[in-house]
Amino acid sequence: MALRFVHCSDIHLLDLEGVGVHRFLNKRLTGGVNLALGRRKAHSPHLFDAIIDRARALKADRLVVTGDVTNLALEAEFELVRRKFGEAGLPVTVIPGNHDAYTKGSVRNRRFEQYLNAFMEGERQAGHDYPFVQRFGGVALIGLSTAIATLPLYATGRLGGGQLARLDAILKELGEEGVARVVLIHHPVVEGVAKARHDLLDLDAFGEVIRRRGAELILHGHEHIHLEGELPGPDDAAVVHGIASGTALSQKPGRNGAFSLYTVAPEGIHRAHYIWDGDEFVAGQESTH
Ligand SMILES: [Fe+2]
Ligand SMILES: [Fe+2]
Repeated sequence: MALRFVHCSDIHLLDLEGVGVHRFLNKRLTGGVNLALGRRKAHSPHLFDAIIDRARALKADRLVVTGDVTNLALEAEFELVRRKFGEAGLPVTVIPGNHDAYTKGSVRNRRFEQYLNAFMEGERQAGHDYPFVQRFGGVALIGLSTAIATLPLYATGRLGGGQLARLDAILKELGEEGVARVVLIHHPVVEGVAKARHDLLDLDAFGEVIRRRGAELILHGHEHIHLEGELPGPDDAAVVHGIASGTALSQKPGRNGAFSLYTVAPEGIHRAHYIWDGDEFVAGQESTH
């Protein structure tokens, strides 16, 4: 049986109204708040509502969001995201991005996981949040976290040796079962794609795991631009798709707000891409792998 899901990323939902003034006095957040206010002109939460409406109209089984659901990892932002996901009218799968670990405090309190664990239910090794595996017949979604608190102006990510070892074992087992493996990761995984200080620090080690075990599809966000690539596997190459921000108002090619509808089965992958034309999401390219 195929899994039909909508993928979007980097929705950066912002609700500054629910945020107490003391938050703005936190020095670490000053730059972030300026950034977030600037971002308000570049992104519109209205587009995320439009994606949900289209996902339902397209009869998608599920919505998959690959991180950066907030800007500053504040409680008020996670509250808003949890409500939006809960009211979406279809199941949601989410993984964190670097903005969802914006401060050390948010990481220490496991704020992302505390608020959004209902959307990350699945099989996992005891004592570890990631990777989690959601199985749908012959298809599995494998959720990773690259979210780490970084210095200001850094947007790097890291999987870490423990998570990579667990991923290795999961891909091996699912591969032997003939399951179509869809890996969800926030940061780009193809070399040379991420901007400086914006990259996945253990990209090579991730590539080694894929080379050894393979994967059918790898979905990411983070760079807010449309990207297509692949990573070598033991047999076939893993297809890698990076998607622009789901809520971007930009009309620059590749940077428009976007989502994709995937139909994934062990036999193959079909993708239908949709882009924001300034007014609505319109059907674009279709591809089969
Ligand atoms: Fe982002
Ligand atoms: Fe990001």
